[in-house]
Amino acid sequence: MISQVNTIDEKLDVWALRQQFPVLLREVKGYPLVYFDNAATSQKPQSVIDSLVNYYSNFNANIHRGIHTLAEEATQAFEATRDAVKQYIGAAHREEIIFTRGTTESINLVAYTWGRQNLKEGDEVIISNMEHHSNIVPWQIICEEKKAKLRVIPITEDGELVMEEFRKLLSPKTKLVSIVHASNSLGTVNPVKTIIELAHEAGALVVVDGAQSSVHLDIDVQDLDCDFFALSSHKMYGPTGVGVLYGKKKWLEAMPPFQGGGEMIKEVTFDKTTYNELPYKYEAGTPNIADTIAFKSAIDFVNRWGKSKIRKHEEDLLKYATESLTEIEGLKIIGRAKNKVSVVSFFIEGTHPQDIGILLDNRGIAVRTGHHCTQPLMDRLCLPGTVRASFAAYNTREEIDILITGLNKAIKMLR
Ligand SMILES: Cc1ncc(COP(=O)(O)O)c(C=O)c1O
Repeated sequence: MISQVNTIDEKLDVWALRQQFPVLLREVKGYPLVYFDNAATSQKPQSVIDSLVNYYSNFNANIHRGIHTLAEEATQAFEATRDAVKQYIGAAHREEIIFTRGTTESINLVAYTWGRQNLKEGDEVIISNMEHHSNIVPWQIICEEKKAKLRVIPITEDGELVMEEFRKLLSPKTKLVSIVHASNSLGTVNPVKTIIELAHEAGALVVVDGAQSSVHLDIDVQDLDCDFFALSSHKMYGPTGVGVLYGKKKWLEAMPPFQGGGEMIKEVTFDKTTYNELPYKYEAGTPNIADTIAFKSAIDFVNRWGKSKIRKHEEDLLKYATESLTEIEGLKIIGRAKNKVSVVSFFIEGTHPQDIGILLDNRGIAVRTGHHCTQPLMDRLCLPGTVRASFAAYNTREEIDILITGLNKAIKMLR
């Protein structure tokens, strides 16, 4: 059991925290695993794994419509996750929390419902040059369908948004701004509160892609005043296959359903169907019950260890890694924003990111290489891709030292 020691001032006991993650005990190619691919997906603590096993072992049942005990227990556990998410992101109403498959589906949901209902020829949607493909392609598809225009906020060499250009892009034609909170490729934390204020002044709605920010930063959707916020459980120590779309109640009520089927209806006749109330209107079919239930264990895990303590620890890792990497000759850090989450991307002269990734894997070090689903960003930076190390609560300075040794050895082999 974890003792109640999580006051803000105290340091994270990272060695105790690591013990909660069984996978960290394994070896890869004869070396202890060093897992630095957390921006792609984080590892899962035992409590999340136990939660999955507990559901399937003890109360597996379909939810909402059953009157038997198992169905009631499963429904209660599923709905408890909704309450936990509501609290985690500071939503005003539990009905504003829609379960999806992940950030990608959450953004698509807005594009296919709000976008299809509200966009028309000549309207404009603004995104940025550092978006993940999942915050580009859905808008491209819907803009093409509606003959609306996609506009792009440029970025600086350091990987920050050019806010003057954003201000210039805003006009009465702007109907929506969809912006990443924290960049998965650069680590940049964008000034989303200012963006939301400016967009609202221009009469536009704002979608925040919180796939990376939700695990690292304190999220308060009411304070941000965003219209929609998307996140993925699997990047927050939770299971894959579960995500959330937060939406302001007034928009969710006005929007048409996303998918048709069971659960999202009130009454069906061949003449007419009426839709269920929020949030079920957007949750057609049997949801991912087990993973949604286990997602609550992930949220509990973060709350129990303390988000601010975890953040401080991750900030220390980012600083230490940035300093250590900078000492490597020919290594360039990609993404030098003032405000970053614990993601460090880099490029090493005379090497290809993929070769570095393979050689690091041979020493048990998991990093991500390539375009990180941000091809337009790589084009802007004139790079074939980067090597990306992204840190979570369980990572240590010692592991960063192992990465540096691994990199030096890889560079010797490749140059
Ligand atoms: C910034 C950002 N947005 C969206 C996504 C898509 O998330 P998912 O694949 O969980 O839907 C990711 C995943 O890496 C991401 O980093």
